Amino acid sequence: MPSRTVHLALGPDSYDVVVGHGVLADLGATLRTHTRAASVLLVCDAALPDALVRTAEQSLAAASLRAARHSVAASEPNKSLHTAQAIVEAAAAARLERTDAIVALGGGVVGDLAGFAASIYRRGIDIVHCPTTLLAMVDAAIGGKTAANLLTPDARLLKNMAGTFHQPKAVLADTAALASLPPRHLRAGLAECVKHAMLAAHAGDPDLLAAMEQDPPAVAASSLAPAATARLIDLIARNAAVKARVVERDTTESAGLQQRPAPNHDAGREALNLGHTFGHALEAMQHISPDADPAHAPLHHGEAVALGLVAAAAAAESLGQIPADSTARVRRLLDAIALPTRVAALPDDATILAAMMDDKKVMGGRLRLVLPWRELGRVRVAEDPPREAVAAGLAAIRAG
Ligand code: GLY
Repeated sequence: MPSRTVHLALGPDSYDVVVGHGVLADLGATLRTHTRAASVLLVCDAALPDALVRTAEQSLAAASLRAARHSVAASEPNKSLHTAQAIVEAAAAARLERTDAIVALGGGVVGDLAGFAASIYRRGIDIVHCPTTLLAMVDAAIGGKTAANLLTPDARLLKNMAGTFHQPKAVLADTAALASLPPRHLRAGLAECVKHAMLAAHAGDPDLLAAMEQDPPAVAASSLAPAATARLIDLIARNAAVKARVVERDTTESAGLQQRPAPNHDAGREALNLGHTFGHALEAMQHISPDADPAHAPLHHGEAVALGLVAAAAAAESLGQIPADSTARVRRLLDAIALPTRVAALPDDATILAAMMDDKKVMGGRLRLVLPWRELGRVRVAEDPPREAVAAGLAAIRAG
């Protein structure tokens, strides 16, 4: 099955994202081509199937690279500076030198932490990302953001509040890794694809939303059959390209850092935060379930993003920024993918708004929301949006 390559043009930091079935077997050769590494620290999600880790290790051995393994229990509470420190110390124990490399094999938590460790060990060594979740393949592994969460003394978890920009030397997205992913995780990854479709006009792909509406990606046992795998490779590559084009325009997310930004301004890379300010607040509320079964709480990140996308569309619609049927259109697509678009047991608006104010995009104590602008496919940042718009967003995702 042919693989697809998406190039990120970032001057001396340029690299390729290779998407395909079985591409993890090329890990050793990729390191040989794009780094000077002789030794590698393989940072893996502790829950990955042995076979996947063995494929990576065999590929490294076949390329005559020395490899040490460090496993990470991937969870938001464990995405800490302490876990990043353990990776840095594992790199030191493996005697990695300046020209050696870290390889991240796992989802967004592992990739963000391994990237952070690579960016500070010996003031920065190379990293290659091998994302194993759909979410990481279309988003987290691309664009060089690294992160750890912080915990305040009053036990508030601040997502991704510490981090660096550190571009990888290559990204290998092997769709074979998705075979072991539970359908709920696959669906959660598709929420980021819907997000990309809602801003893809900025990335030269204005038809992505219509394409997904025409043929909504299905998550079923058959989704990894060869024909479905070919479609999935196309979808991942198209989404990787959206992310790549946005990152190329505003690599360090500086577009919104001007002294006095207009009330609605170009979002730059912050566009990728669409749905995330609402979503992060919901994700932090441990009791919210994506469906009628409270045992399914808390929300997965992608499920929270799906709700955040509906809320963002409804907020924009209430401000007259997009046509009246836009929220219904977003909801229809997410429903077709079986992602949540309404949830029960949401706290009152003031509680959710307080949680939204913990978002790291807040500036000068003012809320900032990425919202659809003029049409689905385009977004802008709304500085200090009216509280009525936030309320309209929350009303759109309240069940009952
Ligand atoms: N995931 C958002 C970004 O990479 O900017």
